[in-house]
Amino acid sequence: MEYAPPMFMRLIAWVVFVVLQVAFLPLAVLGTLMVTYRQLVVSRRMGVSQTAIEVINGRWTMHWFGIRADPATARLAGVLPNTSVPGLQLVLFPLWVKYKLSGVHFGYPRRPPADGAENMGDIVVARTFYFDRILARVLPEVEQFVLLGAGYDVRAYGPLAPAGVACFELDRPEMQAQKRSSLRDAGIEAADVTFVPVDFGREDVFGRLAAGGWDPGKKTAFLWEGVTLYLSEDDVRKTLRGVREHAAPGSVLVADFYGERLVRWMRGGAARKTLEYTGEGAAFALPFATDWEKTLRGFLDGEGLAPGESYFMGRANPRGPFMVVAECVARPTEPSSPAEDPSDGVATSRESAPQEPAPGNGADSVPSGWRREARP
Ligand SMILES: C[S@@+](CC[C@H](N)C(=O)[O-])C[C@H]1O[C@@H](n2cnc3c(N)ncnc32)[C@H](O)[C@@H]1O
Repeated sequence: MEYAPPMFMRLIAWVVFVVLQVAFLPLAVLGTLMVTYRQLVVSRRMGVSQTAIEVINGRWTMHWFGIRADPATARLAGVLPNTSVPGLQLVLFPLWVKYKLSGVHFGYPRRPPADGAENMGDIVVARTFYFDRILARVLPEVEQFVLLGAGYDVRAYGPLAPAGVACFELDRPEMQAQKRSSLRDAGIEAADVTFVPVDFGREDVFGRLAAGGWDPGKKTAFLWEGVTLYLSEDDVRKTLRGVREHAAPGSVLVADFYGERLVRWMRGGAARKTLEYTGEGAAFALPFATDWEKTLRGFLDGEGLAPGESYFMGRANPRGPFMVVAECVARPTEPSSPAEDPSDGVATSRESAPQEPAPGNGADSVPSGWRREARP
């Protein structure tokens, strides 16, 4: 629950916000230009992902607005040549002052709504929350943490780093080279993290990982955040299968999958052109318009996995959720009675459930017999 300020403070904060927003309009435009130029032009010049910048900008904003303490992101964003912290500050200053005066987050960034009413503007903030929530439970149980398509994620550094867990980051070589150089510039110690350059579309991910020192015999948490939508279905399936086939029992993949509604939008018009500018593009999507839980279960089942705790974002929308953050665990191999889950025949019975996945939202997303956890 967010703090509720007195009425007069809310009023003052609103008045100050409106005045600042108007007065700052030219500066906000300048800020937008600074951020966009660096995100697009500089990223392209360096041959790195602009979508990864979208994410670190979102996490920097969460940090600045006191939503999620992430000092390593603040330091890294401050030195990356392809984003502009002063630009972000110019754009967000009126909202930040309003937040400081009232103590309330309004519009952007905001904490995820509890009722599935996330909108597309909430993507980075809300999904970061959901990933954090699942990882907080999963990471203490594993010995290795693998970030697939790590981008500028700093969960392997500083206060967010899981203690006593070996961390591996996978991404394209150019991306990793730039990140490592920026981590050095930011004074962030990266000696304990193993960087494994790989292209999910062209290389054997698990072979590269093993060559990099990852031990398939040790329980691993895989994090795959904001990546599947940029890959082909074959490449997504290949990696899911790899987790099932190569990782030790008890390993977990935490990933997000995107709905056709969102990906269709990203494949059209200005969004497509913007992505193409840095050689990126949206590809893989799942049909989430109806019965999205069955869709997810069916998709994961095809690769020997089953969903655990999951958050369908935007599910309050009549057109269905636009994405899901889902824990994916190995599907139990013992035969189970199809009568237990007649909806799709996927083995999710009490006896055969692989562990105690905690569902995130939607009472009906809970397979029978799995533990239910209240949302905070
Ligand atoms: C939107 S960013 C997400 C970054 C990170 N997971 C985070 O949450 O901050 C997508 C990342 O996936 C990486 N990526 C996309 N396609 C890839 C591929 N075929 N092979 C390796 N990495 C890829 C990009 O380089 C980029 O860093």
